Amino acid sequence: MIRSRIAGCGSYLPERIVTNHELTQKIETTDEWIVQRTGIRQRHIAAEGELTSDLATHAAKKALEHARIEASALDAIIVATTTPDLTFPATATRVQANLGMTKGFAFDVQAVCSGFVYALTLADNFIRLNQAKNVMVIGAETFSRIIDWSDRTTSVLFGDGAGAIILQQSEGHGDKGDRGILSTHLHADGHHFNTLCTSGGPSSNRQVGTIQMQGQEVFKHAVRRLAEVVDEALAANHVAPHELDWLAPHQANKRIIDSLAEKLSMPPEKVIVTIDQHGNTSAASIPLALCQGVKDGRIQPGQLILIDAMGGGFTWGSALIRW
Ligand code: UT7
Repeated sequence: MIRSRIAGCGSYLPERIVTNHELTQKIETTDEWIVQRTGIRQRHIAAEGELTSDLATHAAKKALEHARIEASALDAIIVATTTPDLTFPATATRVQANLGMTKGFAFDVQAVCSGFVYALTLADNFIRLNQAKNVMVIGAETFSRIIDWSDRTTSVLFGDGAGAIILQQSEGHGDKGDRGILSTHLHADGHHFNTLCTSGGPSSNRQVGTIQMQGQEVFKHAVRRLAEVVDEALAANHVAPHELDWLAPHQANKRIIDSLAEKLSMPPEKVIVTIDQHGNTSAASIPLALCQGVKDGRIQPGQLILIDAMGGGFTWGSALIRW
């Protein structure tokens, strides 16, 4: 059976760090409130003129180095982002040019915070259909550009960053012992379109808009939907929660992560948490968490990892991966 194996990963965070303390000087908030309600202590913010494609390119180059392959070996680049450089063309095409590629295909995926799981699913399907052998999947965001910095209910939550992984075609037996993507599970329910959205868009008002979120409503759905979709991934692979080596969830709120870990009876030391350092980086948060786990030696080849995300739309999804 054809499998998509992880050949390498790379990440990039902008240099500038904004602490909770710095935010307390601009808006009416406190470090205690932000830490207690979200788990966030700081976030990275892109420099003036630093674009989503720049963040994505840095992460992509590191992933190529890690996988020890040249950009010319890639058949496709998929960038999951809600904050593209321009309305069009796709940010992925700019990353492709930045990497010096002259072949292959490139496009963006828009599923907000679930974007990486959606992009990973597409990449896995291209590989399993034998339409590509090496695919770069990137989650890259400059959410700082669509934040209303005077709105304390959203401005404390988000950060900028990028993470990239390379999927490579390989062979497996078709069971849960295989290395690579074992299964992916995607969902959407557009009835919640307005619960987490921006106040603008090209066809609505020709604006980019800023983030509007009914936080409690999103929180409630996230806890329920994520529990459902991780169960779906475990059941599809006949895997019990205790067999998992790592949970590498989307990093929106530490309380959401804790509730999911508790449901799976996973001890905190088996959960990769970066929200304290990165805030919510939307589509970049899962690849950033995976790269962090690889960099510090926690994630090892052959280990079983569950990823999950939920975001605007609503969209949500999960994937089970043997690294
Ligand atoms: O990645 C995409 C998915 N996104 C998510 O999953 C986010 C889900 N939602 C959440 O994480 C949480 O709902 C938030 C972190 C956004 C908010 O936490 P909460 O515990 O739901 O707070 P709340 O909205 O119920 O607000 C509680 C209080 C309110 O004051 P009153 O009305 O009780 O007086 C807010 O005005 O906290 C106030 N508040 C703040 N206080 C200090 C809201 N933001 C702040 C702030 N600093 N930054």
